[in-house]
Amino acid sequence: MRKLVIGAAMALALAACDQAATQPEGTTEEGAMTGTPFEKLADGREVTKWDLRGADGSGPIIMDLGATILSLQAPDMAGEMADVTFGFDTAAPYLTDSPYFGAVVGRYANRIKEGKFSLDGKDYTLAINNEPNTLHGGKVGFDKRVWKGEPVTTADGKGVKFTLVSPDGEEGYPGEVTVSTTYVWTADHKLIVDFDATTTANTPFNIAQHSYWNLAGANTAKTVLDHTLQINADKYTPVTKNLIPTGELPPVEGTPFDFRTAKPIGRDIGQSNEQLTFGGGFDHNWVLNGSGMRVAAVLVDPTSGRRMTVSTDQPGLQFYSGNFLDGKVTGKGGNAYPYRSAVALETQYFPDSPNQTGFPDATLRPGKPFHSRTIYAFDTVATN
Ligand code: GLA
Repeated sequence: MRKLVIGAAMALALAACDQAATQPEGTTEEGAMTGTPFEKLADGREVTKWDLRGADGSGPIIMDLGATILSLQAPDMAGEMADVTFGFDTAAPYLTDSPYFGAVVGRYANRIKEGKFSLDGKDYTLAINNEPNTLHGGKVGFDKRVWKGEPVTTADGKGVKFTLVSPDGEEGYPGEVTVSTTYVWTADHKLIVDFDATTTANTPFNIAQHSYWNLAGANTAKTVLDHTLQINADKYTPVTKNLIPTGELPPVEGTPFDFRTAKPIGRDIGQSNEQLTFGGGFDHNWVLNGSGMRVAAVLVDPTSGRRMTVSTDQPGLQFYSGNFLDGKVTGKGGNAYPYRSAVALETQYFPDSPNQTGFPDATLRPGKPFHSRTIYAFDTVATN
């Protein structure tokens, strides 16, 4: 009898262990995601992270600070996973040292000339954080706010929806904006990013995902100059020395900006071309061909065969070749990220649209909710 009782108790204990082992961290018993505590910031804010990885270990881990992608595991041709995006091991450096690694940037992604614009006959002045301009929303942009995360389940997979309220007057912008970013990771290795927003007053609005990609793996410390890139754009927006568009939309044909056919990023980056001197390489907006959901860019690492295809319904794509990385920022695993060791591919409205009458109108208006989608699809391609 005694033996039986002990046996039953052991069985129960084992069953409990089993349950703990099969219930992944950050989920409820029913499998719904909850997020897990990540870090308490010095200012008292609690940061939570959400693990969207699938059964094969592929996928992102995302935190509510900046709705930031912390890591993204993608397989190479042999099925070997690597984290292909830059970031930090802890949350605090994202407030102090980060050139927008993995973050969602807004209320206006990219630059607004000298932080000034007029709307409906009224002049506005924004916080200047990138002399002499406003960059990525100002001093405290969406990337430095803690968003509210909640689990979502869609036909495509499991995900997390982050919501933020940007108050009227924040960083100088008019109107209270309620914005959400929803990330879903699919079984066939697509990261679906949906942006939604509403406002109480007309305001410039431009939102972008600002991940830094190195498809050889974020810890390889290799440059991305041998990655090949194709951009579906016949035109681009040249800039002045302060990286503000001139307003012209010249053809890329015959310039280093011609990525219509895939080529290594490093092939023309050293060409003598005034545009390449302003940002120290590629740091420009391409005018995407067509409209609606279509492929914007294809990035391939020829060594691992990893390929990332970016599709979007947005009009523009900022391709930034990591020219301001200089090995001084120490990221995940103690890696000092070197010069041009990652690229950002930011789907967006064009920079400085509030001051450019010839650009698509980036005004968010009451009663006209904003929705946009960008998909980062990962697979592999045989290269020689
Ligand atoms: C954007 C800009 C770049 C640079 C980075 C952050 O991509 O276009 O000029 O400011 O952000 O370092």
